[in-house]
Parts: sequence; C-alpha cells; structure tokens
Amino acid sequence: MSKNKFEKIPVGVLGATGMVGQKFILLLAEHPWFELTELAASERSSGNRYEDVVNWKQGAAIPEKARGMVIKPCEPNLKCRIVFSGLDASVATEVEKAFAEKGYWVFSNARNYRMEADVPLMVTEINPDHLELVRHQQRKRRWTGAIVTNPNCSATVLVLSLAPLHRRFGIEAVQVTTFQAISGAGYPGVASLDILGNVIPFISGEEEKIECETQKILGTLEGDSLTLAPFVVSAHANRVPVEEGHLECVSLRFKQRPAIEEVIECWREFKGVPQELQLPSAPLKPVIVFSERDRPQPRIDVWKYNGMSSMVGRVRACSLLHIKYVVLGHNTVRGAAGASVLNAELAVKRGVLD
Ligand SMILES: NC(=O)c1ccc[n+]([C@@H]2O[C@H](COP(=O)([O-])OP(=O)(O)OC[C@H]3O[C@@H](n4cnc5c(N)ncnc54)[C@H](OP(=O)(O)O)[C@@H]3O)[C@@H](O)[C@H]2O)c1
Repeated sequence: MSKNKFEKIPVGVLGATGMVGQKFILLLAEHPWFELTELAASERSSGNRYEDVVNWKQGAAIPEKARGMVIKPCEPNLKCRIVFSGLDASVATEVEKAFAEKGYWVFSNARNYRMEADVPLMVTEINPDHLELVRHQQRKRRWTGAIVTNPNCSATVLVLSLAPLHRRFGIEAVQVTTFQAISGAGYPGVASLDILGNVIPFISGEEEKIECETQKILGTLEGDSLTLAPFVVSAHANRVPVEEGHLECVSLRFKQRPAIEEVIECWREFKGVPQELQLPSAPLKPVIVFSERDRPQPRIDVWKYNGMSSMVGRVRACSLLHIKYVVLGHNTVRGAAGASVLNAELAVKRGVLD
C-alpha cells in the first residue's frame, strides 16, 4: 500500500465521537494521502449521522465531509485498511485486536497495548526503527494486521525534549512535574466543581505511564528484543484548569554535565526521519526553544507550529540535578491524534503495509 500520489488511501476512525476522535477528523479531513471513509463509535452513536450525535468541542467547525457520514459500530468490516483509534481503554483491547486479526493496521492512542513487548510505542522522530516490531507481532500473534501505538500525551511532550539530549549527553535521571489540561481526560472528563480555580494533584495511572513509556520509547531495539532506556524517571502528575496543552517542569542529570548553550543548540539542531522525509504532518522542527523568560504558556502558545512541536523554555542550571526547563505540547494533537497520523504516514512511506 505504498503511497500513490494520485490515489488517496481510505482510512477510518474508531472512537470518532470522542475528544481524540474529533481531532482525528480535523487532521484527516484535508489530508493529502488519506481519505476519511469510515467513522465508528459505540452503539450509543452508531447508525446516526455524525453531526447529529457528536458533542463537537473543537474551535473549528465539523469538516463538511464528516457531517453527514453515518457512524458504524466498531466491527472489523469497515471499507479501509488503516484505522485510527481514539477508543476508550475499557474497550480498546478487544476491538483493536479484532481489527488487527482481520488485517487492519490500527494506529492507536489507547494505553492497552503500549507496553506489550511486540507492539511499537512510537514517537516518529525518535524511534522510527521500532516499527520493525510489527513483523514480530504479526508472527507471534498470527495476524496479518498490526497495532502501532503512540504514547500517553504527557510522555510524548516530555520525550521529544529528552531524545536529542539523551543521544548526545546520556541522561541518567529525569524528574518531571506535569500541569495537565482537562481535555486530556476526555469528555465530560473532570467535573467543573472539582477543577475550577483548583489543581488536582492526582491523575490515575499517569505517573506510571510517563515513567515506563519514556523508557520504552528511548529503549534500544535489537532483533525482536527491546531493552528499556537505563535512566530513572520520577513523575508528579497534576490536573490544572487549562483547556488544551500540557506544561511540564523537568530536571535532568546527565553522564557528563553539558553547558546550557550546548543543550539549547542540541534542541535547535534536532531533526528526525519525518523531517527528512517531509511527511505531511511533520513539524518543521520537533523542538522549539523559547527565549522569553515566561514562555511557553498553554493559552498563548499551544497552537503554534500546528500543535505538533514540543516547546521548551526557561532552560537553566539545576542545583539538585544538572539542568531544568519547562516544556509545553498540545495534548490532543501531538499527544494523541497528530502522533498517530504521523506514525501512519511513516508506515505508508516505508511501504510496510504492502
Ligand atoms: N484526550 C487526550 O488528550 C488523550 C491523549 C492521549 C491518549 N488518549 C487516549 O485516547 C482514547 C480516547 O480518549 P478521549 O479523550 O477521546 O476519550 P472520550 O472523549 O471519552 O472518547 C471515547 C470514544 O470511545 C468510544 N467508545 C466508548 N465506549 C465504546 C464501546 N463500548 N464501543 C465502541 N466505542 C466506544 C466513544 O464513543 P461514544 O461517543 O459512542 O460513546 C468515544 O468515541 C483513550 O484511550 C485515552 O486514554 C487521550
């Protein structure tokens, strides 16, 4: 299924009515390679026209194409071979498996398969080689489709900033405190009475996901076997009354302490395979460095660079570890739907779906 510039590839969205599903629809509506042909969700929604049943929460209008599409059940008889999954974790295990067994390529945001040894957990700029795990997955699970996952939204934002530094200087320890937007909890998510004028210092399962997913993404693949990155990660996760954009305060220790200027230069030079291949959803730069003393900020900056870059600022020496900084990323774009679409673009470009 290599990309033919005259013929778009039909794709579907599972969980099309949710927060992540809505972002998929926005990103796929005008996609140069993919044609949105199928929408699926729960039995609450299926059988209805999309615009009649979706609780649309995006700033942009529902794309014309999607408005009248009839939502189908999440059953593997959709007319496409690629599906993007924004499914609730309570159903993703069974539904995604059923699709992979029937030969579909599932690009998933759900947590269910992320830490499975034969499932790629990909951030396209960082570990595109992990896509190779799919061959092992297909042999082991005896299916012709595949499941490819992208990380938890906070882990994605963080790891884009870590990867170039780890490669050049060798990270030994990561301490991260997150300030996570409410859109990260789906809809209706956190009750307004809990979050308005408040900070909730607990997000179930989030700290564990940030810690272990970061080690898997920066791990090393040899043959079919992936060795986790050896550094330690300690995370605090907080929910804050912000609509979109996860902000994270990070401190790092390295094998050898780099100068602040070297760290900044390393981020500025960082480019990955999506940039080299000029994939349609690739940001020009995966990491943007801000020099203002009070930036990046979610409300002002979250939509910059199409929501696909991690934005760092306030880079300075840390008196406990070596350096510290803040990083901001769009949780439902780079942290979810945009990451899946970029992974799918790489898979198509590399011809692995053929
Ligand atoms: N929000 C984020 O920032 C973010 C970031 C990264 C990853 N994720 C992950 O992405 C997934 C979706 O998150 P979200 O925030 O978009 O959640 P959400 O707004 O609650 O949407 C969940 C979607 O799953 C569908 N669904 C629920 N039960 C179903 C069933 N029994 N059968 C078929 N479909 C069913 C819903 O369809 P109906 O509308 O028909 O019920 C809806 O389309 C989750 O696994 C989440 O952990 C979210």
